[in-house]
Amino acid sequence: MTEQQGIRLVDLDEDGVDRAFRADVLTGLSQPQKAIPARWFYDERGSELFEDITQVAEYYPTRAETEILRGKGAQFAELIGEGRAVVEFGSGSSVKTPLLLSAIAPAAYVPLDISGDFLRAAAADLSAKFPSLPVHPVEADFTKRVELPAAVNEMPKLGFFPGSTIGNMVPRTAVDLLREMRQTLGDGALLLIGMDLIKDRDVLESAYDDADGVTSAFNVNLLARINRELDADIPVEAFRHEARWVDIYARIEMHLVAQEDVSFAVSGEQFTLQAGETIHTENSHKFDKRSGNMLLLAGHWTPMERWTDQAERFSLVLARAATPRSAP
Ligand code: AVJ
Repeated sequence: MTEQQGIRLVDLDEDGVDRAFRADVLTGLSQPQKAIPARWFYDERGSELFEDITQVAEYYPTRAETEILRGKGAQFAELIGEGRAVVEFGSGSSVKTPLLLSAIAPAAYVPLDISGDFLRAAAADLSAKFPSLPVHPVEADFTKRVELPAAVNEMPKLGFFPGSTIGNMVPRTAVDLLREMRQTLGDGALLLIGMDLIKDRDVLESAYDDADGVTSAFNVNLLARINRELDADIPVEAFRHEARWVDIYARIEMHLVAQEDVSFAVSGEQFTLQAGETIHTENSHKFDKRSGNMLLLAGHWTPMERWTDQAERFSLVLARAATPRSAP
């Protein structure tokens, strides 16, 4: 299928441990504010729990974004046009991607994902739904420029990055990613990107701390994953899930709060937390029209059009690849 195939993207040590996971956990737990990157939530159990989150009453982003994709198809078709290769950053979801593809009559679909397993499952699912659409999955780390399959070289591209995953990144990292996407997609490309909107603190904090405890289980699963994979003995019950809106950064932060003094080992290294100390596990930045546009501009994308759901909870923004020009 592609040149990237066969290259190992996940680097395992002699015990089958993901080296990057261990390094991120050991480094993250050694800092004054302990922190573990949110990408490590998504082992098999974590991915299942995220799917469950999208179904809970308080978590509106998935439903709001799907509402836009269902309702604005004609406008997408008009602005995007037919015959583009749709390049999705992250394996497609069974619901959102088909809605986009049915709206715009693309010439090819190129899902990018670092996990070959998720990628193959999503590609197979898509091929079954769109039997005549060429699908070219690429196993790749899309935080860096990706070489796309030769079969789509001559096609204009549409990048698709739904879910407000861009919000998991601090602005500096988000801008870097947007610039890499601009390089991956080339001149003349468009980008359709989901951005969750700033709203009342209560609504946001509930969306990340649902009454059924699904988000709590998702957060705590990270500790269970560390115990399973990194030879650790973290007392999981000693931690409580917390979601807090931090206004100055316009983001929800998820933390795991130690309820008592705790000490544990991870891969032979010893760590302690005092009661009340936290492990910061996720940022979820929220945007308004201007902050979203500013991020895109800094990332070398020019905003063209923007849609929200009826209740104005979530936005999808269409942007075009900026071309270098001299500023006045
Ligand atoms: C998958 C990154 C979009 O930040 O809303 C959901 C992840 N974390 N509940 C988000 C998440 C807690 C989600 N994204």
